[in-house]
Amino acid sequence: MNSPTIIDGKEASGRLKTAIAASVSALKAKYNVVPGLATVLVGEDPASQVYVRSKQKTATAAGMNSFQHDLPASTSQADLLALVRKLNADPSVNGILVQLPLPKHIDQFAIINAIAPAKDVDGLHPESAGRLLAGGDSLVSCTPMGCIMLITDVAPNIAGKHAVVLGRSILVGKPVSLLLLNENCTVTMAHSKTVDLPALCRSADILVAAVGKAEMVKGDWIKPGAIVIDVGINRLPTPDGKGKLIGDVDYAAASKVAGAITPVPGGVGPMTIACLMVNTLKAACRQHAITDVAIPLRLPSRS
Ligand code: GUN
Repeated sequence: MNSPTIIDGKEASGRLKTAIAASVSALKAKYNVVPGLATVLVGEDPASQVYVRSKQKTATAAGMNSFQHDLPASTSQADLLALVRKLNADPSVNGILVQLPLPKHIDQFAIINAIAPAKDVDGLHPESAGRLLAGGDSLVSCTPMGCIMLITDVAPNIAGKHAVVLGRSILVGKPVSLLLLNENCTVTMAHSKTVDLPALCRSADILVAAVGKAEMVKGDWIKPGAIVIDVGINRLPTPDGKGKLIGDVDYAAASKVAGAITPVPGGVGPMTIACLMVNTLKAACRQHAITDVAIPLRLPSRS
């Protein structure tokens, strides 16, 4: 029977958060600098509230300052832009995260584009995306960064491997493809118009699924021994009303074939917030021109 490595995102993110906390502590001791993360939530979407609280809690636990701005759903675009500009100018704020989605009357791109690129810890500003494409040092969006850390934790050298990325979103598909290319993988970006997706997936040494379709990837789409990273978070209704989270991959079937696989929940999800802390630490160091504090680019090894 196949027994894949179950990639435990909670354990991995714990290792990363420990390393970040050590760096934050060193930054404070040596330079008296405390990284500050501002989170902005517009409206009362329950899932967004949970995410934002978790981001704040993680920042505080890592020794950072957390500044929360909760605004009513009726907030105008002009008022939100004014807040972003105020945070851009505030030296105690090193990173700005505006939680998405925003209410429909606000142009999400206008808001993202207004964030100072140096404080764009979500990596969504066109300058951050452009720097990633051009190969320069950039703030990389958090979920793709988490995917790469999990992959290289189980397979440190993935040069030459065929990576197939399902989905082409600006949040995950496109940046994770570029990061895999930076690791010298041969990358195929697949999407809803791709011909014979199952056959393509079967040729993948690394498969990253980020399409938002529950259990779309079947067990017989997986190459034996492949690394499978499931970014999907699909909430299925349950009789108790709580809902059940499932990924884009049929986990039970894929586990019978894969060499390593992330569960949902507990795989990529916990890494996203830890990577936000990496970016906040990195942004703070850059803004103070500090170059001798360690910024984790890989998961620290298990001790
Ligand atoms: N909503 C869901 N995922 C994200 C994310 O990565 N960043 C932001 N800002 N909002 C989100």
